[in-house]
Amino acid sequence: MQRKNDHIQEALKQTFMPNDFDKIRFEPVLLPETDIDKIDLSTEFLGQTFKYPVFINAMTGGTEKAHAINDHLSQLAAKHGLAMATGSAAITLRAPETKESFSVIRKNHPQGFILANIGADKSADNAAEIVAFLKADALQIHCNAPQEAVMPEGERNFIDWAANIKAMVQKVNVPTVVKNVGFGMTAQDIKTLKELGVKTIDVAGSGGTNFITIENARRNHPIDGFKSYGFSTVESLLEAEKVPGVEIIASGGIRNAYDVIKALNLGAKAVGLSRYFLELAVNYSLDEADALLIDFLDDLKKITALLGATNILELQEKPRLLDASLISFINQRP
Ligand SMILES: Cc1cc2nc3c(=O)[nH]c(=O)nc-3n(C[C@H](O)[C@H](O)[C@H](O)COP(=O)(O)O)c2cc1C
Repeated sequence: MQRKNDHIQEALKQTFMPNDFDKIRFEPVLLPETDIDKIDLSTEFLGQTFKYPVFINAMTGGTEKAHAINDHLSQLAAKHGLAMATGSAAITLRAPETKESFSVIRKNHPQGFILANIGADKSADNAAEIVAFLKADALQIHCNAPQEAVMPEGERNFIDWAANIKAMVQKVNVPTVVKNVGFGMTAQDIKTLKELGVKTIDVAGSGGTNFITIENARRNHPIDGFKSYGFSTVESLLEAEKVPGVEIIASGGIRNAYDVIKALNLGAKAVGLSRYFLELAVNYSLDEADALLIDFLDDLKKITALLGATNILELQEKPRLLDASLISFINQRP
């Protein structure tokens, strides 16, 4: 359980850096002919319609600190009608005393859309148990092999993960989403998940919280030079464009409202933020966090209006300009 607190502490040490979202620009629109107050940013994902295309992505549970974070964030989620994912809830299966640090989310957000998070190393029965315990509306399965490999006490055997995912999708009676934890996905990954029966995928690329850096800080001998492993969220979204028929969620390195707009333009149906919300929970009172979130959600509307769009579909039609390194990435990919 100390690991959970280490993750929070190390994640907060990381500062938001420039990332691939800075390599995307839009044409300026001199006369947008839109009204900020008439912008409709509603979106449908995991079978439900939401007023805003952002949600609180998986983080924590299991400790007192985690309880406080989940308490704070679920109140924000309830107020603004945002979906919220729990942190990995597998710990509740072996340590029932940790349950309350997760169930506080359901308590604060009784009608809300909650995603129960579990690792791809776990069984379908485990997944069904946490979905039932949280009365979850969706199951979120994380594939965090790089994190496990760098983690001193991490998993070493990933052989069963694909079979576990397939079994979980078949077993649970709610929609499922498979995610990375900040290392992204290739088009082939997305095709493979589709073949396993997965309909919704969160690419969760690099550019934000870096779990190699976090786990390196917990090791005696860090793996030097490895933190650049993975595809960025932008690169992963460019990969996802090659695979039709999958619902794509973007997360990883979403620092501000403009990054959300860019991720939507790249085809995401919804955008998940972890680190952004972690800061809201830890560094601000509930009222201060609420004021920041109100501005953030309004900024989404403002940017959409400035680009001359009135909804997400129109936003997706806006031409984007990619810098030379992203063009080179596209040219090197099969
Ligand atoms: C403190 C912390 C704990 C996390 N724990 C989990 C977890 O239990 N399960 C999971 O799927 N992802 C977990 N993540 C990863 C996030 O869901 C996300 O994929 C990653 O942080 C990248 O997004 P970001 O740049 O917005 O932080 C965690 C992230 C943070 C910051």
